[in-house]
Amino acid sequence: MKKLRLKKKNAFIALAIVIFIIIEIINPTKLIAVSKLIKMKYSKEASQKIIKLGLKNDILENEYNKFIDLNVIDENFNNEYYDYYKDINYDKKINMNIVNKLKEKGYSSKETSLILKREKESDIENFLEKDKYDSIISYLEYDYAKLMNLDRYINYKNKNGLSFEEVVTNVNLGLDNEFYTNYREVDKFNFTMLVNKYNKLSSSFVPDDLISFSSLYCKGNCPSDNKEVVNAFERMAKDLYEEEKLNIYVNSAYRSYKEQEETYNRLTKLYGSNYDVAKAGFSEHQTGLCVDIKAGSSNTFKGSKEEKWLNNNAYKYGFILRYPSNKVKITGYNEVWHYRYVGSIAEDVKKSGLTFDEYYVKYLDK
Ligand code: DAL
Ligand code: ZN
Repeated sequence: MKKLRLKKKNAFIALAIVIFIIIEIINPTKLIAVSKLIKMKYSKEASQKIIKLGLKNDILENEYNKFIDLNVIDENFNNEYYDYYKDINYDKKINMNIVNKLKEKGYSSKETSLILKREKESDIENFLEKDKYDSIISYLEYDYAKLMNLDRYINYKNKNGLSFEEVVTNVNLGLDNEFYTNYREVDKFNFTMLVNKYNKLSSSFVPDDLISFSSLYCKGNCPSDNKEVVNAFERMAKDLYEEEKLNIYVNSAYRSYKEQEETYNRLTKLYGSNYDVAKAGFSEHQTGLCVDIKAGSSNTFKGSKEEKWLNNNAYKYGFILRYPSNKVKITGYNEVWHYRYVGSIAEDVKKSGLTFDEYYVKYLDK
């Protein structure tokens, strides 16, 4: 009888141990939760951390959240900020210290998402040094808006009746400063380079592969340009002649820094300092990527049949009208004869209705 009781007791203890092992070590509820989270797409590591932090109920009730998935494992992930984290729309791994500082500064999840999208941690750290900005969403909604330009956006917006988008574009271009001030140095040749009153070439810059235009397309001296530009122009001129029996000629193309300096001095002496000519270093002519075009059928290019045809067709050859009459405030020039070669993006630039300057800050200035 005693033996039986002892046996029963032992069996009971053994059962208790087995149950303990099942609950504590194998932990079926935890296993089930992990498998549910993994099924939702969370990594195994993230799932385990979610459970450890006691966040599983909320997370299981909501849609998969990539920000949480990637960042919950960060040692600086702060459980108390979970409600703020879960509304952050950012799908990369990030230093959570920065995220916490943004929260502590008073930025909302939405503002934080837009700030993180700027992606350069050093820029965000500099931004955190400044006092909290009250309204940044209207600017940062444009993905090319820069954190470091926020003060300039706000100042410029206050002075102009422009839209937020125009403010971001114009400030990124430099238009909140006088022409030829606060400019950047440009030194790499490529077909989408931007040279204007805020982007300056050095005196030693010479474009790649300069060749002369064929004498068929010049009156008098034949200037040079980059080889690809010359070929595209000559194809365009040939097609124009075949289609419409109209001729176009190159009036001016590549000008060295020194030639631009002479051109600037000569023309401003003749016509005054407001004349449409760039200071040396600031001229697109130094890039070897543009042409001033002369129409064969008329002494004035403006209003000519050639102008009209080029307006409709130049993009097919990689050229865009660079200084349209309705955008002088942006470009500083009104030159309907000045075409710029940009290659394969020409159609996209034309369709955008933007000047190349605006297009550049929106899509190319990464
Ligand atoms: N006239 C053109 C814009 C230049 O000087 O570059
Ligand atoms: Zn020109």
